[in-house]
Amino acid sequence: MSEVVTYKREDQIAYISVNNPPVNALSLPVRQGLEAAFTKFANDNEAKAAILICEGRTWIAGADITEFGKPPEDPWLPKVIHQMEANEKIIVAAIHGTALGGGFETAMGCHYRCAVPSAKLGLPEVTLGLLAGATGTQRLPRLIGVKRALDAMISGAPFSASNGLEWGAVDEIVDGDLRDGATQFTKKLLAANAKPRRISDEEVDGLELNEHFFNEYRNGMAKKTRGFFAPEQIVKCVEAAVSLPYKEAVEREGELFMECMMSSHSVAQRHLFFADRACAKVDDVPKDTPLRDIKKVAVIGGGTMGGGIAMNFANAGIPVVLKEINQEALDRGLEIIRSNYNATVTKGRMSAEQMDQRVGIISGVLDYDDLSDCDLIVEAVFENMALKKEIFGELDRIAKPGAILASNTSTLDIDEIAASTNRPEDVIGWHFFAPANVMTLLELVRGAKTSHEVIATSMAMAKTIKKIAVLVGVCFGFVGNRIFFPYVREAQQMILEGVPPERIDQVAFEWGMAMGPNGVSDLSGLDVLDKVKSEWLDRPDDPALWAVGTKLVELGRLGQKTKAGIFNYAGRTAVPDQVVADLAKSEATRLGIQQLSEVSDEEIIERLMFSMINEGALILEEGIAMRSSDIDVVFVHGYGMPRYRGGPMRYADTVGLSNVVAAMEKYRERYGDMYWTPAPLLKRLAEEGGSFSG
Ligand code: 3HC
Repeated sequence: MSEVVTYKREDQIAYISVNNPPVNALSLPVRQGLEAAFTKFANDNEAKAAILICEGRTWIAGADITEFGKPPEDPWLPKVIHQMEANEKIIVAAIHGTALGGGFETAMGCHYRCAVPSAKLGLPEVTLGLLAGATGTQRLPRLIGVKRALDAMISGAPFSASNGLEWGAVDEIVDGDLRDGATQFTKKLLAANAKPRRISDEEVDGLELNEHFFNEYRNGMAKKTRGFFAPEQIVKCVEAAVSLPYKEAVEREGELFMECMMSSHSVAQRHLFFADRACAKVDDVPKDTPLRDIKKVAVIGGGTMGGGIAMNFANAGIPVVLKEINQEALDRGLEIIRSNYNATVTKGRMSAEQMDQRVGIISGVLDYDDLSDCDLIVEAVFENMALKKEIFGELDRIAKPGAILASNTSTLDIDEIAASTNRPEDVIGWHFFAPANVMTLLELVRGAKTSHEVIATSMAMAKTIKKIAVLVGVCFGFVGNRIFFPYVREAQQMILEGVPPERIDQVAFEWGMAMGPNGVSDLSGLDVLDKVKSEWLDRPDDPALWAVGTKLVELGRLGQKTKAGIFNYAGRTAVPDQVVADLAKSEATRLGIQQLSEVSDEEIIERLMFSMINEGALILEEGIAMRSSDIDVVFVHGYGMPRYRGGPMRYADTVGLSNVVAAMEKYRERYGDMYWTPAPLLKRLAEEGGSFSG
């Protein structure tokens, strides 16, 4: 028997136990171990039933994702599951933790399932650009019905053991010790002379479905799944479950699974699975670095950003103090928070009681001295170095020893801010993304003197408030904005060259971005970008840089908030305006910018993406980002790049770095060296046939 799967019989019951930390993934030795254990069980005349149980923190959490993309090795999971299911003696799954993906498929290959109340079950393959290809798409509709199975597989969201019980996916909930409870349950089954119940023998209940069901389902999911490859393949699998005999439908599932596996989408989404986890690791900060206790937090500035930041802590049950400069501003800030929560209650996503609890732990103050007992202070005033330095000077005076002093700056030099205190080791950047209570990204900016403790505590705190934290170094714009700037630059440059802004946005949207660059600029505020430009001291020496935005700001067109920017706004809908086209034309004449007679969609994407990729390569070389996948995480979580592109650096790998360089050389010939000289790292990797993701 293998080390990761053990077989032990006690009287009539065989306990087959999986122990493959950290999450009992179905790596090759586990599949081999299961095959061997269930063969032994079949041949063990004393054994009348088997219980499949897992050691450690969870049941089997799925196939081993690190094996994907490599040549498959026998035994395949579907084979193992069919072998289990075919057994003449009963097999019971005893589930704790998460039974996900291949793990849940393995549980569905068992004849009965019991679970602890906290267990979760689901088929999240869609989040990896895949489908449940070890018979899951065929078994789940048989088990819980077509509509529920589709909902579970298209969302990828796990469901609770009690839902499982209600829907027929779980036969018994075990309170107390799982092994004991599973044993009792199995003994009951033996006493009742229960037979193996094989899901594959059951029919899919298709009676409830009208002839338009699948097309209506497709229409219903279209908005949420826009651009993704796997969801449609999942629907096709379930259609096959309804219309084909089990065996043929399983073959179809296998084909569609392989299509997903080979797709660039799945490669990108799997890359992000690991990237989202890698960014929490900081090489030079040891795992056992002591963490500071954060019991009370202060947020300075009660504007939209400050309010959103405060809500994050309140949502995690941490008391927050909001500091403003006068009563009116404070009242307004607290009111915005309350109305944000109210909106969530109205949508039914929070109870009024929860709202009261959260609002109840947010208090307002006007005096810095009232922040002296806070363990973490987040400054969230507008981007102005002089003001931030003044505030940090005050914080140095009043904050208790060991308090973490964080600045929510989106561009400014943390070292300069830290220098206005006598404790630069306690100073760190916490760059939230708007709306701060919704967006999952948090850029943590490490100053030259930021201590390991402050970094480790910030990382841990980010997890507590459910953010994905990426640690970055100091430079203007850090990682996110620094790569966002060339993206905006190219979008506006193309407007100057006569490309309609709505076309640029449409092409970017169809490529997968949540919004086009011009819409995003209008949403952020053209005045905000203009302010950034004025603070950006070493910006490129280029009068055309963001020139459209600057001109529009002069006309009072600040973006969505003034109902006019690059577009006009009827509500939130962007409407093109001839005024902007005319203005772009006259600016182009003034700046001597040639009009392009024709621009392909391909060029639009290349200029938007490759300009970012090049900046990303520079960022990597300068050590501002720790790894290329961190840049991907930033852009996907903070700027609306779809997960199926994997982030800008992963996208560069998909295109091929030599193709990226070749395209850049083409633009370099047209526009000169300033923006289109390939970064040395990019050039070197392209020449070596390498990639960013290694
Ligand atoms: N394969 C390989 N490694 C995995 C893994 C998997 N399925 N699931 C988790 N890991 C690794 C993580 O990368 C991480 O490694 P690290 O410590 O080196 O960074 C470690 O296990 C712990 O994972 P988490 O940090 O995510 O631990 P949590 O406790 O926060 O979460 C979890 C546990 C909910 C199980 C979460 O890890 C998870 O969601 N895992 C993926 C589940 C999944 O997608 N399963 C489906 C796989 S595809 C499949 O089964 C195809 C089949 O249909 C054929």
